[in-house]
Amino acid sequence: MLAELSPALIAHVQKAAKLLAAQQRICVLTGAGISAESGIPTFRDKQTGLWENYRAEDLATPNAFARDPELVWSWYQWRRQLVADKTPNPAHVALAQWQQSASNHQQLTLITQNVDDLHEQAGSTVTHLHGNLWRNRCSQCQAPYEDQAQGMSDSNIRFDESLLTCPHCDGYIRPDIVWFGESLPAQAWQTAEDAAAHCDVFISIGTSSLVYPAAGLAQLAKQNGAKIIEINPDPTPNTIVDITLAEKAGVVMPLLMKHMAELS
Ligand code: APR
Repeated sequence: MLAELSPALIAHVQKAAKLLAAQQRICVLTGAGISAESGIPTFRDKQTGLWENYRAEDLATPNAFARDPELVWSWYQWRRQLVADKTPNPAHVALAQWQQSASNHQQLTLITQNVDDLHEQAGSTVTHLHGNLWRNRCSQCQAPYEDQAQGMSDSNIRFDESLLTCPHCDGYIRPDIVWFGESLPAQAWQTAEDAAAHCDVFISIGTSSLVYPAAGLAQLAKQNGAKIIEINPDPTPNTIVDITLAEKAGVVMPLLMKHMAELS
């Protein structure tokens, strides 16, 4: 695999490894791109099959659910079915190993915008900014709704498309996900802000850096003196990056870990 990578990329990975090995507090923000190599389409990918005429941005909103709850619910049930049998890829695994092996010398806080549970499956402790695909709650009284989807994926479940109603208030049940225009969970956001504001290095992996407030975490880190590393095969609007690793996360992360191990 190394032979296929450009010398420039390898040099950048070495530079990133050197920087990371010398620093203590690391904050990692992941987005849909880290799960792409596990077979989960990103948000900016065109949708397929039955949903090819819809844009994710038009379905993941409170207005869309208010207008047509059946449509939005069945899209999420389809997404659950799509994600249920997916497993972590080498990027999730490398991050989990790094987090687990971090000693007193290093602390790695992992924040994700993803609603899948691939970081957890790989063994990471992770803060979810945008909720959890496997949890439901009432759209009216907000009470958690426990049924088939109880916090972790399960490839044996068939996800029924009919709407469910709340046993307390009869409101429609919705996925416990942060939609466009909604506030982020306060505690998760506090954890993310603290980690970004106090880190030495901030690593952005597989995110388009388009959706705020998560996209502002790199700026917060930079303002507080952190170096910024970005792992993404495509360019992003993030202009404050110190080291760009322009390759897939599943290729870069294991290589980065290898170079860091050689330095320790
Ligand atoms: N490795 C790393 N990055 C990748 C890979 C890969 N293998 N494949 C794709 N990418 C990059 C793309 O180039 C893109 O920049 O991942 C990014 C995915 O961008 P988005 O689909 O916009 O995902 P994300 O940034 O997580 O979206 C943010 O928007 O739709 C909302 O709430 C939703 O959490 C989501 C948020």
